[in-house]
Amino acid sequence: MSRIEGSNILITGGASGIGKLMAQKFADRGAGVIIWDIDDAGLEKIAGEMKAGGRRAAVYRCDVSNRVEVFRVAENVKNDFGKVDILINNAGIVFGKSFLDATDEQLEKSMAVNALSHFWTVRAFLPDMIRAGRGHIVTISSAAGLIGVSRLVDYCAAKFAVFGFDEALRMEIKQKKWNIKTTVVCPYFIDTGMFEGVRTRFSGLLPILDQQSVADRIVKAVEKNRRRLLMPPMVYSLWLLRYLPTFAFDLTANLFGINATMEGFTGRSGGHGTTPFSTAQPGSDSQNPPQGN
Ligand SMILES: NC(=O)c1ccc[n+]([C@@H]2O[C@H](COP(=O)([O-])OP(=O)(O)OC[C@H]3O[C@@H](n4cnc5c(N)ncnc54)[C@H](OP(=O)(O)O)[C@@H]3O)[C@@H](O)[C@H]2O)c1
Repeated sequence: MSRIEGSNILITGGASGIGKLMAQKFADRGAGVIIWDIDDAGLEKIAGEMKAGGRRAAVYRCDVSNRVEVFRVAENVKNDFGKVDILINNAGIVFGKSFLDATDEQLEKSMAVNALSHFWTVRAFLPDMIRAGRGHIVTISSAAGLIGVSRLVDYCAAKFAVFGFDEALRMEIKQKKWNIKTTVVCPYFIDTGMFEGVRTRFSGLLPILDQQSVADRIVKAVEKNRRRLLMPPMVYSLWLLRYLPTFAFDLTANLFGINATMEGFTGRSGGHGTTPFSTAQPGSDSQNPPQGN
């Protein structure tokens, strides 16, 4: 069991969606929650809500796609709160364009936010976890990290990458005998708005997931040290489908409407973080900070 009460838990992309819900749920269980995001209004809102609810939380603006910024804000977090016990790499973006319609910048951004950022946050916090003899790294991948989907080429590339990142890191951690736990999470579509407009063909087998129950399940998976969490159960069958010849695999994916899911995609218009950041220094915007544990 990973101890939640009294732990410092850092969640990237925690101002919105399942990141925000996880932050609230971990804080309700007595954790000190450190939230990173680029959505200034969202950060301000959750900081206010946490304070009003008497929960221990601190917010920092940090663009996880910016390596230098990640290391700088990580130092601020360490100075302010000491160590991070549980790191949840949750920040994500989606453009939902076909590969050739996306700009070069969008493709790079997609990889930088959805995949490369995991390198920088883990390199920033893992050494302290090793020294402390305790830690937990959570990777939010996706069902799109297990199967390729039309109009999600860059997103799938990044989510496949972080699935591999989690697995290889887990192997390395085991080999080195460090007491660090890992959890990888691969959900199908969730009703947060990130994938607004997507359609699912067989909603009994592949329902659009409810964000509250996804957040609940991730919190429990972390608590119980589950190494993998795939949602809904149908997603586990992807590994069996891989035994099929490629043409049969592709046919099955199309039968389930996987490559039609993105046809109605609109996404969340403009994202949250469209306003310029107003606080002078990362770390200076921490509010109602968690106490050292
Ligand atoms: N929603 C789904 O259907 C679904 C399914 C499977 C997996 N996932 C994964 O689950 C995670 C959370 O998704 P969600 O649906 O909760 O999304 P969400 O509501 O859009 O939340 C993601 C948060 O990350 C922030 N963010 C974006 N770029 C960032 C950056 N460079 N640095 C720091 N924060 C950044 C976003 O800010 P802005 O809003 O300003 O961009 C937003 O506040 C993502 O990794 C996503 O890929 C989602």
